Amino acid sequence: MMNFKLPERRPLIAPSLLSADFSRLKEEVKAVEEAGADLLHLDVMDGLFVPNLTFGPLVISAIRPHTKLPFDVHLMIVQPERYLKHFAEAGADLICVHAEATAHLHRAITQIKELGKLAGVSLNPHTPPEILDYVLELLDFVLVMTVNPGFGGQKFIPQCLSKIEKLKNTIVKRGLNTLIEVDGGINEKTSQLVISAGADILVAGSYIFEKEDYREAISILRSPT
Ligand code: DX5
Ligand code: ZN
Repeated sequence: MMNFKLPERRPLIAPSLLSADFSRLKEEVKAVEEAGADLLHLDVMDGLFVPNLTFGPLVISAIRPHTKLPFDVHLMIVQPERYLKHFAEAGADLICVHAEATAHLHRAITQIKELGKLAGVSLNPHTPPEILDYVLELLDFVLVMTVNPGFGGQKFIPQCLSKIEKLKNTIVKRGLNTLIEVDGGINEKTSQLVISAGADILVAGSYIFEKEDYREAISILRSPT
């Protein structure tokens, strides 16, 4: 059912559209694609799970024709299972729900997979990785939040590094292919820390979009010095 595959190189870089110029979304998306991005990270917020509102399936389907980049949809909404189909139809390739946002995580993951999309679960900074013990083999990726979700431009929370390491160890020990995505406060310094801890996909919003040269920002994140 699923025919979509991520590029092989690591780390993959996923610019977060949250920090782009929203009056020029089409141009911004094309610019990060040309600058070497691997995925486009799309932050959906409902003003309830997180204290901020962004966009939904309509905006995602509007930008879908303008890029070939896979769409990595990060759902920061309560009871995300209500909208999985809408986001799949809008053009999502990866869909991730928060463990804290649903009482039925296993069902939500199963639904994402039935829709033919890569399935992920995101963990807030305080949420222990053991919450995934009984669903880990179903997951294509885990999104470790390294800030409290809701806003771009926040400071990286260093306590989350040991969670990335712990998850990586579990994934290796259990012989799984689950990828680790890291989101929040990623810059030229923290990228190095999360890559060493085991991150496979780096999300970065303000670091990329605040730079004049998106290509340079992406290549610094990919291979920090
Ligand atoms: C925060 C979002 C992030 C955000 C990251 O809730 O999930 O994807 O855009 O922004 P930076 O990279 O600026 O911390
Ligand atoms: Zn995000």
